[in-house]
Amino acid sequence: MSSEELLYIEGGRRLAGEACVQGSKNAALPMLAASLLATRGHTILHRVPAVKDVLVALEVLRKLGARVDHDLSSQTVVIDTVDVANYHLPEDLTGRFRAALLFVGPLLARFRKACICEVGGCAIGSRPVDYHYRGFARLGARVTGTGGGGIEVCADDLRGAFMYCDLPSHTGTENLIMAASLAAGDSLIENAASDPEIVDFVQLLSKMGARVRGAGTRTVEISGVDELHGAEHTIMHDRLDAGMLMMAAGITGGDVAIQGVQHDHLRVFTAKLHQMGVQWHEDGSWTRVQGPEVLSPINVVTTYYPGFPTDLQPSIVALACVANGDSYIRETVFEDRLGHVKTLRAFGARLLPEKDRLVIVHGPARLRAARTGAHDIRAGGACLLAALAAQGRSSISNLYQLDRGYDNLENRLRALGAELERI
Ligand code: EPU
Repeated sequence: MSSEELLYIEGGRRLAGEACVQGSKNAALPMLAASLLATRGHTILHRVPAVKDVLVALEVLRKLGARVDHDLSSQTVVIDTVDVANYHLPEDLTGRFRAALLFVGPLLARFRKACICEVGGCAIGSRPVDYHYRGFARLGARVTGTGGGGIEVCADDLRGAFMYCDLPSHTGTENLIMAASLAAGDSLIENAASDPEIVDFVQLLSKMGARVRGAGTRTVEISGVDELHGAEHTIMHDRLDAGMLMMAAGITGGDVAIQGVQHDHLRVFTAKLHQMGVQWHEDGSWTRVQGPEVLSPINVVTTYYPGFPTDLQPSIVALACVANGDSYIRETVFEDRLGHVKTLRAFGARLLPEKDRLVIVHGPARLRAARTGAHDIRAGGACLLAALAAQGRSSISNLYQLDRGYDNLENRLRALGAELERI
């Protein structure tokens, strides 16, 4: 683990040059879990980001008995889960990331049984798991506590059912689709999440032989099949990494060409950036992003896709800190995703967290170097953006959080002229 490492950033450099967007972490994770559904053939995934959460997910697969071949240079993973016979998720690994929960659906579907201990993840408020387990129960599973925070899910038979999420849960939707894909008969998930990662994930499932309709809408239908097999898929680009690179250009007044920004996944976000004065132009697979001399303030309310993504909220707060005027940013998806507010204050920004998860940012602040830590993945991103814009040498600790979500970000920023050093 890299918790004792520090990232030093000499701020105030204008970024310029070319950068590529990584493969999507949040699409890769359910796909790795889905490989467990295959009882013949290999699952081959391309453009797999080498982020910590993905590396831990690969380790989970290995511990369950899968053969995993990860070629970092080609970003390809080949997985053979045919001989997997273990349905106990390893406690030492599931405690590290919340997406470990995604392994329960496919294990239940394939073995009619799964055992998991407490899951970890970002500290962004209480993150219940009731939609997942309630859905499994509707398919016919019994969900019982094993003591010590563990959960056992088992079923004699899984039968297609009507399921729903009170809120459109991203991983909840993916988990229920996987569990229903090998159940007998038809299932329907109402108020499903419609994020692009789910569409990409269902594309892989369909190649594996699953019958799923409606991915990308709020109603998803699944017709259970008898078996699924391995398949090959190239993972979509990571819209959150794309947003991070665009904002790095925006906050430094830079001029950066980015390959792999999928604009139809980021419409509300890019419209907000445009309002702040950031210019962008598409040219084939490239997007040229130019930051203004001075950013304009912004109003943002995070919500479910296709609304403004909660994962980009911490970073846009960082941009608002240097914008010329007051910005109002409201978080509505997670109850406590404002861990970056305190960190940004250390850079000299003026932020007032009000009640009801509203942050008022009084810009413009002239950011000065600070010694800070990454509170969670995306708060770490906000911290890095502030450090890029601040005058002087900043440091960021708790880099494990940044590494959970961003692949080789330092080198990509360095290629744009940023001065960064990990010690
Ligand atoms: N919720 C419940 N009960 C549940 C599940 C969710 O009440 O059983 C609530 C949550 O508390 C939250 C809302 O529903 O208020 C939405 O949460 P969701 O389930 O969609 O979050 P998630 O699936 O656990 C994924 C991403 C997160 C991202 C959120 C929201 C993955 C692996 N994780 O989490 O990504 O913030 O969706 O888009 O896909 C990140 O990448 O940094 C990250 C945290």
